Amino acid sequence: MNPKSNYTKITTHVLQEMKLKSEKIAMLTAYDFSMARLLDEAGIDIILVGDSASNVMAGHTTTLPITLDEMTYHATSVVRAVSRALVVVDLPFGTYQGNSKEALNSAIHIMKKSGANAVKMEGGREILESVERIISAGIPVMGHLGLTPQSIHKFGTYVVRATEEKEAAKLIEDAHILEEAGCFSIILEKIPAKLGARVTEEIKVPIIGIGAGPSVDGQVLVLHDMLGITQKFSPRFLRRYHNFNEEIKGSVRAYIKDVKELDFPNEREQY
Ligand code: KIV
Repeated sequence: MNPKSNYTKITTHVLQEMKLKSEKIAMLTAYDFSMARLLDEAGIDIILVGDSASNVMAGHTTTLPITLDEMTYHATSVVRAVSRALVVVDLPFGTYQGNSKEALNSAIHIMKKSGANAVKMEGGREILESVERIISAGIPVMGHLGLTPQSIHKFGTYVVRATEEKEAAKLIEDAHILEEAGCFSIILEKIPAKLGARVTEEIKVPIIGIGAGPSVDGQVLVLHDMLGITQKFSPRFLRRYHNFNEEIKGSVRAYIKDVKELDFPNEREQY
């Protein structure tokens, strides 16, 4: 079966239609042209140029250091590769939290330079003014609640969020706030499956989960995690579809051996 849905171009309206038809939405991250091309050709619905680039591309331990210019560079490379998927780009830490005018400038900058289709922002009520201002400028916004890695220093750990009634109630309230503000979709990260199901039932826009159980409208994973390139990060929600870590190292070892033993290049591989 071709896993690609029938849509020739994924838009925010198509995603809404998919929710109404109970057609699950498949989303992955990408940060460069070559990977984005593969994902798009394979039929992924949404490509997220995530600020997880800070970890998997730049080697930082958190998502906090990545800059607007660095995210713009990644997003521009991805957009060049994509013809079908919706491309969403993360607004990085420090570019939207404090001041809604600055938030709008950040969103306009990244949309204009990269050609992405939408931005993603972490948080609920506390970033409402920025979300509203960006949406009123015509820029689609995806929300992100639950474990929000840009706030890691506030949380202190990457454990499951909203297991307590009070935090779950705030998450539900924030989801309603983001929906009313006009977000076209919301990501829920690392929360109990029951809470993911409840938010998906109550909220009319598509809910995409990462560690939020099976009842949400779609799933997202970080590409390097699901391909098995990264190895140390191993949360319960992560399904690894490949072990590229071993495969790439195996290929590199074979190449080194061939070079050292004068096996490469052979007669057919020279001019
Ligand atoms: O930056 C990212 O990759 C993300 C996903 C984990 C949802 O925000």
